[in-house]
Amino acid sequence: MVPVLEEKARVEGRLRRSRRSERLRALFRETRLDSSSFVAPVFVREGVGKVEPIDAMPGVNRYSVDRLPNYVGRLTESGVNSVLLFGVPSAKDEMGTQAYSPSGVVPKAIHEVKKRFPDLLVMADVCLCEYTSHGHCGVVQNGTVDNDTTLALLARAAAEYAKAGADVVAPSAMMDGQVGSIRSALENSGHADTLVMGYSAKYASSFYGPFREAAYSAPSFGDRRTYQMDGANSREAMREIEADIREGADIVMVKPALAYLDVLSRARSRFDLPIAAYNVSGEYSMVKAAAAKGWIDEKMAALEILTSIRRAGADVIITYFAEQAANWLREP
Ligand code: PBG
Repeated sequence: MVPVLEEKARVEGRLRRSRRSERLRALFRETRLDSSSFVAPVFVREGVGKVEPIDAMPGVNRYSVDRLPNYVGRLTESGVNSVLLFGVPSAKDEMGTQAYSPSGVVPKAIHEVKKRFPDLLVMADVCLCEYTSHGHCGVVQNGTVDNDTTLALLARAAAEYAKAGADVVAPSAMMDGQVGSIRSALENSGHADTLVMGYSAKYASSFYGPFREAAYSAPSFGDRRTYQMDGANSREAMREIEADIREGADIVMVKPALAYLDVLSRARSRFDLPIAAYNVSGEYSMVKAAAAKGWIDEKMAALEILTSIRRAGADVIITYFAEQAANWLREP
């Protein structure tokens, strides 16, 4: 009697042969992580001498501007050379004034880090939700978020951040036309070289929970489903991305990453410009919480997740694991 497996293996090969040693596995590895594709989100607050831990995001802090250089220095030592700044203002109002004030916390932070780290790639999130008293991403009129009034304010914010020295501005408000109005504001204010990264396919997601605690930006009424995308839709994501490309985006994004890897992969096969994926706060905190309970291995889980995001097609990975992962990758 001929053993069935031997016959099959002679013809089709034994796939396990190439997994026999780490040398072979390394040789055949299709996807590699590299800290040059990581972007670290950073929360900047008002005040002096503040490094304030965020309960829902172990290991992540809010920094006052004077304490930023120390932290950014640590990031660059680990091999992370890109940051995405989020402002946590001390005062909020109906119109989100602090988002586009030249003396706001984000322009101050950009100045400071660019002065100390000229080679650092500085990206700035452009949205109103951290700055509005009601927590919505735009101006509220008659109970709804008004698209076109918001556009002008987002454009002002983006121009301020560019003026302060940001390399990339990243509109995340999900207003229609936000990339286009920011692109023209940049051209008209002498910042033609500033890149725009559109949060193109940004879904209304429960995974933003910890971020909203970090930025005190949970909406005080309603939710974000009239502007952020419905999680069931993938074709619509392609339309959002197409619109951002037409409006002049240099980078497009899929967010969150993990529950939307299919969307990322679909975007990758369809579009040729750089694609970013945002490994969001809830995705980070879930790993941290399970690891703290001893239920999963934090390093293995985090690297597996980051690899999956890369494998699905992301060029740029925005992740709260950036520093840790960069250090893990340097371990022998
Ligand atoms: C601002 C913004 C949010 C995130 C990035 N930019 C919050 C939101 O839309 O509620 C979430 C990031 C994260 O969860 O890590 N609009």
